[in-house]
Amino acid sequence: MIPTPIRFDDQALHLLDQRRLPAQEVWIDCHGAADAAEAIADLVVRGAPAIGITAAYGLALEGRRTDLDQLETAARDLIAARPTAVNLGWAVERMMQCARSIAADGDELGAALTREALAIHREDAEACRAIGRYGLTLLSDSPRVLTHCNAGALATGGIGTALAPIYTAMEEGRNPEVFACEARPVMQGSRLTTWELTRAGVPVTLLVDSAAAFLIRRGEVESIWVGADRIAANGDVANKVGTLSLACAAALADVPFYVAAPRSTFDPDTPNGAAIPIEYRDPSELAARFAEPVSARETRFWTPAFDITPVALVTAYVSEEGISSGGRSKRA
Ligand code: MRU
Repeated sequence: MIPTPIRFDDQALHLLDQRRLPAQEVWIDCHGAADAAEAIADLVVRGAPAIGITAAYGLALEGRRTDLDQLETAARDLIAARPTAVNLGWAVERMMQCARSIAADGDELGAALTREALAIHREDAEACRAIGRYGLTLLSDSPRVLTHCNAGALATGGIGTALAPIYTAMEEGRNPEVFACEARPVMQGSRLTTWELTRAGVPVTLLVDSAAAFLIRRGEVESIWVGADRIAANGDVANKVGTLSLACAAALADVPFYVAAPRSTFDPDTPNGAAIPIEYRDPSELAARFAEPVSARETRFWTPAFDITPVALVTAYVSEEGISSGGRSKRA
């Protein structure tokens, strides 16, 4: 069964705590925008579309008890929680446009914002489905693909972006198989992608990030599928650090490299990858594992959470609007 990590009801926003997976399935309740911002910053919820949806619900809950001025402050705090994924700012801005258009506080504002947040969530689920259908046309009958980090159901409001074609292939009776990079240091690939694919009955093989180039070079995968946190106007892609290495290896081996993302990830206001803000994570994520140090105490750290893959290394982009060519011409 494909998981649903975000649930909303009249009382609260309920988030599956992705920090605890795969060992424990624990749900966390958010009662307002500050709770949502904390959950986003702490990676309770992660993945570009999912954090946008979470922020939207956080503002909907906040709107029931605050006025527009306080909501503007909450919106700024939410956007600051994680800077790279443009879906976050996109969703917050859409919610604030809705709030500004309502000349009332309290129940009326809360109700309008709840409708808007539900629409953002529903539209993302629909976009995932469309990405799955378009992406399917790029897959063989028994596709063996490589993915990075987690761009599945846990990262979105639906069946994922990079994993959507895989789930669709499964539903269509094909025999997909996924190779998942572990995505150090937070291990979204090994903790989350293996968990959700296994639950859905998709065979998955885990590899260390540094083994991926060798796998690709040996011709073991027909294509590489990643999500995105932001796609600049020129087509450069910000995604989980390690994506650029995969794109380089794919180009060297002449294997297609696909970027799957909803339109909310495309940012016409950012001209190119150099202008995308890169989030740096706390060194503690790299310095220790399960409280045991894995580096010398005096070590210095470089901790970008994302990297930029230039448009020249992308074979194609798959969104809910269809397939568009990247800078590499080769198609599967
Ligand atoms: O740090 P994370 O786990 O939020 O990083 C997530 C990714 O890099 C995903 O590939 C991206 O957000 C797309 S999710 C559909």
